[in-house]
Amino acid sequence: MKNIFNIEDLKNKAQKRVPKMFYEYADSGSWNQETYFANQKDFGKIKFRQRVGIDIEERSLSKKFMGQKVSIPVALAPTGLCGMQHRDGEILAAQASEEFGVPFTLSTMSICSIEDVAENTTKPFWFQLYVMKDKKFMSQLLERAQNAGCKVLQITMDLNILGQRHVDVRNGLSAPPKFQLSHIQQIISRPRWALGMLRAKRHFFGNVVGHAEGVTDSGALWSWIGEQFDARFSWDDLDWLRNQWNGKIILKGILDADDAEIAARLGYDGIVVSNHGGRQLDGAISSISALPNIVDKVGKKMEVYMDGGIRSGQDVCKALCMGAQGVLIGRSFLYGLGAYGKKGVTKCLEIMRESLDESLGFLGENNVQDLGRNNILYKSYNEGFLD
Ligand SMILES: Cc1cc2nc3c(=O)[nH]c(=O)nc-3n(C[C@H](O)[C@H](O)[C@H](O)COP(=O)(O)O)c2cc1C
Repeated sequence: MKNIFNIEDLKNKAQKRVPKMFYEYADSGSWNQETYFANQKDFGKIKFRQRVGIDIEERSLSKKFMGQKVSIPVALAPTGLCGMQHRDGEILAAQASEEFGVPFTLSTMSICSIEDVAENTTKPFWFQLYVMKDKKFMSQLLERAQNAGCKVLQITMDLNILGQRHVDVRNGLSAPPKFQLSHIQQIISRPRWALGMLRAKRHFFGNVVGHAEGVTDSGALWSWIGEQFDARFSWDDLDWLRNQWNGKIILKGILDADDAEIAARLGYDGIVVSNHGGRQLDGAISSISALPNIVDKVGKKMEVYMDGGIRSGQDVCKALCMGAQGVLIGRSFLYGLGAYGKKGVTKCLEIMRESLDESLGFLGENNVQDLGRNNILYKSYNEGFLD
């Protein structure tokens, strides 16, 4: 993998290898994409305190996520249609994660099914649930995930209505998808991707087709999806889900300290401070700027993760300094997957590891568990983090 040094390199390669509509599906945010861009940009407002004259020979990057040892404090975020970035994308990303020693999260809206991923991996992965109106389907889905050995459930809290992403509408990728002649041209201009797809295990949402009532083909699938997101969903409905799950539960998509307090009061195991990678409420604050207030309120009561805009180990390091237990990465691994399949996901994780390790050393620290606000210079949100 010559000349791949950072996530931007993987991104450029992915753009050349993945058909435009699927590449843009990953590389976009909702509406004016303000929040999407802010997620990355706000990391630049945090500066490290470099320290010297300290023995930094024995550095350790390992931590525990939900009681499970991780080689670096990074997990793969749930991403729908992951299997459209590369043939069997979910299986390959899960295998790369397992070999690297970090959790992989399978999305409800994955192409490969829970069973496909379980059959091709040896350790438990995490599962993400979108709350849907069809309770029978959700109940069966949770049962399937538990039968597959999943012990950690992420419940996504910030998608009971869908933020509009203009590129998806333009590309005919909204529900129901609209076939365009340009799709053929996009696909034949990416022969490696297209040939791979001919050998792919699946091409449609594997957790849904053949499982949800009446969804046996792609036509029925899209109308089912369109009807399923539940705008009536509230905190009270979580109890029902909780009773169906034996393992740990992390609530994903928390951006406000008041909501984090509710999650802590209700006794959930963790939260992910997240704005869905800038794909939902455009104009919401970046995840990294939301993080410190939330950590201050609930960090002692539950594990606080964050995602959004992580493109390097330096970003991971900053999030840890701000008090995150760890981070989730979305697009960074998707670019690796689109560029080189499983090897690209491994490369993404190696980039994260090497740049995190280097940052840790320059801060004069030997263990990621010791990182704190004393290692950075930043203004709190109330002091004008966003200025
Ligand atoms: C292409 C794509 C698909 C996504 N699908 C899901 C999903 O199915 N479920 C979910 O909870 N979040 C989903 N997300 C949000 C991610 O889990 C995560 O919050 C976000 O990608 C983090 O931002 P980052 O991509 O800048 O790392 C998706 C994000 C992307 C980019």
